[in-house]
Amino acid sequence: MKTTRLTLLLPGVTLLAAAASPPPTASVRVALDQPGAAVPTTLHGIFLEEINNAFDGGLYAERIQNRSFEEGVLPPGMKLVKQPDGSLKMELESLPPGVPQEKWPMPWPWGNNCVWKPERELLAWSLELRGGAKGEMKLTDGQPMNAASSRSLAMTVDAAAPDAAVALVNSGYWGVPVAAGTRYELTLHLLPASFTGRVIATLESADSTVLGRHEFGAVEPVAAWRRLTAGITATGTNPKARLVLSFSGAGALQVDWVSLFPPTYRNRPNGLRPDLAKYLEDLKPSFVRYPGGCYAQGLSWASAPDWRTMVCPPEERPGQWGYWQYRSTDGFGYHEFLQFCEDIGADALYVAFCGMTVHPENNMPLDQIGPVIQQTLDAIEYARGPVTSKWGAVRARMGRPEPFSLKYVEIGNEHPPAIYGDYYVKFREAIKARYPDITVIMSMFWSGLNPAAIERAGDADIDMVDEHAYREASWIRANFDYFDKYPRKPWTIYVGEYASHHGAGDWYGGMGDALYLMMCERNGDLVKMASYAPLFRNIHKSDWGINLIEFDASRSFAHASYYVQKMFAENRPDVNLATSYESTPKHDPAEPRMAGKIGLGSWNTEVEFDDFKVFDEQGRLVAGDGFENIDAWDAPASGTWAVRDGVLRQTDKAANPAMLLRRDVELKTGRITFKARRTGGSEGFLLFFNARGLDNFMFANFGAAGNTFTAIQDRGERTGGTLRPGQHTPGPIEDRRWHEVALVVGADHAELLMDGRKVADCRIENPPDFFANAGYDEKAGCVVLKASNYHQLPRVMEISLTGVSQVGAAGEHRFMTSADPYAENSLEHPLRLVPQSAPLAGCAERFTVTLPPHSFNVLRIPAARK
Ligand code: AHR
Repeated sequence: MKTTRLTLLLPGVTLLAAAASPPPTASVRVALDQPGAAVPTTLHGIFLEEINNAFDGGLYAERIQNRSFEEGVLPPGMKLVKQPDGSLKMELESLPPGVPQEKWPMPWPWGNNCVWKPERELLAWSLELRGGAKGEMKLTDGQPMNAASSRSLAMTVDAAAPDAAVALVNSGYWGVPVAAGTRYELTLHLLPASFTGRVIATLESADSTVLGRHEFGAVEPVAAWRRLTAGITATGTNPKARLVLSFSGAGALQVDWVSLFPPTYRNRPNGLRPDLAKYLEDLKPSFVRYPGGCYAQGLSWASAPDWRTMVCPPEERPGQWGYWQYRSTDGFGYHEFLQFCEDIGADALYVAFCGMTVHPENNMPLDQIGPVIQQTLDAIEYARGPVTSKWGAVRARMGRPEPFSLKYVEIGNEHPPAIYGDYYVKFREAIKARYPDITVIMSMFWSGLNPAAIERAGDADIDMVDEHAYREASWIRANFDYFDKYPRKPWTIYVGEYASHHGAGDWYGGMGDALYLMMCERNGDLVKMASYAPLFRNIHKSDWGINLIEFDASRSFAHASYYVQKMFAENRPDVNLATSYESTPKHDPAEPRMAGKIGLGSWNTEVEFDDFKVFDEQGRLVAGDGFENIDAWDAPASGTWAVRDGVLRQTDKAANPAMLLRRDVELKTGRITFKARRTGGSEGFLLFFNARGLDNFMFANFGAAGNTFTAIQDRGERTGGTLRPGQHTPGPIEDRRWHEVALVVGADHAELLMDGRKVADCRIENPPDFFANAGYDEKAGCVVLKASNYHQLPRVMEISLTGVSQVGAAGEHRFMTSADPYAENSLEHPLRLVPQSAPLAGCAERFTVTLPPHSFNVLRIPAARK
């Protein structure tokens, strides 16, 4: 007999209602007479990388995309290889001697960065034939404009009628934003070999409404390149306009290096977009790291960034193909980086190509890295050398006789092989011999140290290591003592790239970054510098999921973490103070380890289900389905689901995952049972629990990894429990055989049974939900107490200060909070999550303050030390 659908709501199996819980409290003691480690003035910095169109189409104010028509130029050292499906991929032309041929293609994941799309070569450009004109355009390598420009655009124009024009259109970086009253500086280069006629530049909306116009004088044929410039003041506004160059007349010509600049940050020529530069200035960073990241590694030796090609007028820079699959103009080059550091009062940290590329086999032999070491020494000389030095003279020619400040040089980026330690040592020796004050930074992994490389270099020969920290937000919560436990060595730590991953940069992620920075601050003897990554993303280019500041051509917003970092930069104490605390309850009961939806599914597999039942922890049946229909299930999120002959079927073999969520039940504790079988495809079946959607769930995975084992796993980040995998069972799921499945979910564990036999288990832990750390600001004479409340309710925090001679009554309370930890800022709602202030009256040796729910807080308490 078929089980009929049944839904009851009993303890342990609930809808979303939060249980009433006693108000959470915390008691924090700060000893002003027990100073700890100093908090370095260098701690908070920024990291600039050309990723997500962060520079071109971002910080660099140039409005014309593919301005020198070089987008389709293959990076040196690479060749194109046709793939079986007809697409093109870049491969290395050569590898060091002795590396076998089969190692030459870029391995995963770098292979994905080597996809080559020939249609990109005319990116952003198009031709419109107006008023009956005829004309054509194509790229040419003939008669280049200068040595840096290998290509230009060859056009033919046949537009003699009065209103006829061949219009060359550039759509910018997803739009050319134009604002009425603003003046734009236009530069273009023409070689009018046989062209006679007029050239008119207009800023136009998509419907050809003219928003600004400049007519150049008559153009006559000449066998040399001509530079034309004009200032165009816009008469209208459009965030997504276009630049149009209209040619009337007849003949053939070449066009190259077309540039349009709006007003820039500090009005610097070849400068930066003011709104984006201002975000960085406001962070008051102590240093700026540049230019990568992976970008600094290069795909091949010859295509790694070379700063020497960037210290010249922008139209003489060849640009380069970057690691993140687009070409960079290098307009925001080495000189502009040094200038920007000075403009915002930050020290420069330059990342040098170290002779090891992103390809694991493509390392310059150690005895051949002399030229790249010299390239780095020259970079330092460019920044710091006198005008009488070779590169100091070049700097002076760039308009800057006085030296720049360059304090740090990092050697390469994220090179796993142990032998990287030898490369580092060679660079360091050479740099220290000439510039003993420069801190030479050794690069580590994307999360954690590279012990083998450290061992090879030797502790005593390392200044500082750059450990990256892309961490899940819950990891940070569960590892607040991570740096406390680090053995102290002769070297110190720079966290060159950190980011707490949650959502696309939501409030829970911001709270994770606040905790991470508290961890750094309280270990100031060890962690000297930190910078978030990546910093920028143009919303039209997604090389990376979670970024700090996002923008389109005219708008921008910063994620919650940006404001957290600003709060830290503005509230850096000079020294830590001994801080201890207790809190109740230990965990927020409304932040259950498991509370999400339950569901069925599969991964690239056809499956069938039957006899689905949910029991509470007392064994009472609370929901069941014998599959006469699928009314109790959410409209299929993915996959092809249907009920036939009393059985639920999923028949889409390409869905990964296919997911069907039960609409009415949320499970905290209890038992789920059902029958399942695989009927085709590559794996087994899935049971979801604690699920919030396609990217966020825990699941029993039968026949995981190509039908090789069964385990309990998870995907995505929850604000609650963290899954610690336990037992799993190797072996496949048989074809077409029905299996009896049971998942038993307890308060802090889950157990999976198949055909009466236990096949997997896991633990589910909740990390603490209160954290605090305090320091002393000598100049302001106040305690700076930072505290995070992960509870969904306000928390009453009692503060006791010891070792004080006097406490001023009125302090300051700054905080960020959100009822919804998943809330995010966006272009439409840029200021949803920003710091707020509350009065802090009644400060005393012992007093209380209430922290908002889900909040990060900074309390400044005026207090004199004994
Ligand atoms: O920040 C994005 C990338 O992450 C960087 O290029 C690289 O260093 C890291 O792995």
